Amino acid sequence: MRVVGIESSCDETGVAIYDSEEGLLADGLYSQVTLHEQYGGVVPELASRDHVRKTLPLLREVMAEAQTSAAAIDGVAYTAGPGLVGALLVGAAIGHGMAWALGVPAIAVHHMEGHLLAPMLEAKPPAFPFVALLVSGGHTQLVRVEGVGAYEVLGGTVDDAVGEAFDKTAKMLGLGYPGGPAIARLAEQGRPDRFRFPRPMTNRPGLDFSFSGLKTFALNTWREHRHDEQTRSDIARAFQDAVVDTMAIKCKRVLGQTGLKRLVVAGGVSANVTLRQRLAELTHALNAEVFYPRPAFCTDNGAMIAYAGFRRLEAGQREPLAFGVKPRWPLDSLRAL
Ligand code: KG4
Ligand code: ZN
Repeated sequence: MRVVGIESSCDETGVAIYDSEEGLLADGLYSQVTLHEQYGGVVPELASRDHVRKTLPLLREVMAEAQTSAAAIDGVAYTAGPGLVGALLVGAAIGHGMAWALGVPAIAVHHMEGHLLAPMLEAKPPAFPFVALLVSGGHTQLVRVEGVGAYEVLGGTVDDAVGEAFDKTAKMLGLGYPGGPAIARLAEQGRPDRFRFPRPMTNRPGLDFSFSGLKTFALNTWREHRHDEQTRSDIARAFQDAVVDTMAIKCKRVLGQTGLKRLVVAGGVSANVTLRQRLAELTHALNAEVFYPRPAFCTDNGAMIAYAGFRRLEAGQREPLAFGVKPRWPLDSLRAL
């Protein structure tokens, strides 16, 4: 089965083609980062318009790269939520239009299920069941995963998502958007012992997170000190160390509570090298294993949507001709396969 995947939930247009026999045939990404940079964050209407401009040319490029004819396509998957409503509607409309024209089924994919299943595209995919730490710009969740669609959300953020905390802290420090990679780069020059930030919600039981206090802590620290490069780097370092430490503490806790030995980490923040080092140490000490998507598939991409769509199409699911999108869509409301 050969499936086209279209991602357009936020500021990245992603298109990919996954084949159940041959694997990933091609994937293309058009990032809107430069478009939104000057505004310090994503402008929804500009995002939608750019998806309109970029999706079809990208689709043609990817089809050519995969050397596939339209007749060889067996289904079209698109991100139906969560995300920006206008941006989602572009991918949904193009996906449905293509499916209808080709006479093949369309399938709506949950963006976070896409992230969660992205490690399945790697050479050594995780076996079910596992625990997933989903860390992106809009979500921070710990999920018990029994199979595709069988998700129990065990913890989440009570305020900002972790990627959002990176982005907001970066903005305060005068760094560009997106903030995660900018903070990570700066933190390399930061000294570990200059500032110590709190590890929110780690002293009480439970698997929830809170990151908005850390952002305020960073802001106050920045205001109290001279605005020199070293201080900026030291704050980036202290912030990243606190975030990574907090996530590692919760991962240890969730593995202990569930008794599971496999941890999947996905979403934009899973590209963070310090987080990966820390979780490698943790899982090694616990005799557990950790799985990630390749760095390019940590952030938004079409490949994860093509793959998740394939799994659902293969199980017989498809969308009716009338379609909508779901800007808000709880992960644990999905149908298990
Ligand atoms: O999954 P994603 O591409 O989009 C959403 O679904 O939100 O995640 C984007 C988020 C942004 O907040 C970005 O700052 C963060 O992932 N991010 C990182 C890194 N790369 C991207 N955060 C920390 N370290 C990184 N290396
Ligand atoms: Zn995402």
